[in-house]
Amino acid sequence: MIGIFDSGSGGLTILDALHRRLPDQDFLYLGDHANAPYGHRSNDQIVEMTRRNVSALFDAGCTLVVLACNTAAAVALRTLQQKWLPQAYPGRRILGVLVPMVEAITGVPWSQEHPVGHDGSGKTILLFATQKTVKSGAYVEEIAKRAPAIRLVQKACPGLVDAIEGGTGPRPLAGLVEGYVAEALDDAGVIPDAVLLGCTHFPLVSSYFEAALPEGVELFCQPDVVAASLEDYLTRHGEFRRKGSGKIRLMTTGKPGDVDLTDSYLPPHLCRFEGGLS
Ligand code: DGL
Repeated sequence: MIGIFDSGSGGLTILDALHRRLPDQDFLYLGDHANAPYGHRSNDQIVEMTRRNVSALFDAGCTLVVLACNTAAAVALRTLQQKWLPQAYPGRRILGVLVPMVEAITGVPWSQEHPVGHDGSGKTILLFATQKTVKSGAYVEEIAKRAPAIRLVQKACPGLVDAIEGGTGPRPLAGLVEGYVAEALDDAGVIPDAVLLGCTHFPLVSSYFEAALPEGVELFCQPDVVAASLEDYLTRHGEFRRKGSGKIRLMTTGKPGDVDLTDSYLPPHLCRFEGGLS
């Protein structure tokens, strides 16, 4: 069974793509709705909350956990992989969503820092993310190592995750997105070549981003990129690919009845939460 973790409901956008790509895999999803959002928390809090929730997924029988959360991946993944996992759960794995995105944007495999003769051709890419992901500088740093000519313009979107989680209506949500897009376009000073929604919650409102962005700008689809990357990983690491029946369970640390996904594009089986895993 593969575990999927996010601070709240955003990781469902990743789970949706994973389930479509790997229909015979069983998934256990855990949303830390009781503590969401993570985007304005301290690094220590994010590491500790992520560690606790990943432990709960391992204890429930997952052998591999995907941090379907850019904030947790940017802030906590490396620390947990290096300083905690080998002792706490030897033989298990934690993967994130940042590595596949950096590979997709730069066209350079993660293992190749500073490749010779590749600079990324001077594209401008807009990144919309949480305050924490932006402040971590993780996307800027990792892209610069592989494709230094790519100009990444970052835009933090404080309040957007709360608005999505809080069931804010379509008009105020669209207004919030329009405001962030207008500011980012201003900062960029040019029409970007591509846009990355670097928070797994944001695909839930991707239609508002598409409407606010200039026509024809490519939108990287993080869920699809992550799903393709996990399939490739499972092909190379067959021990984590257990044939199941495509069963999905959604757990929350909060109150299941408070999770409101009625207006999202997600199918009904990805909207029914149970409580009580951690
Ligand atoms: N969905 C998460 C992300 O990808 C985190 C949102 C939050 O809790 O602030 O960054």
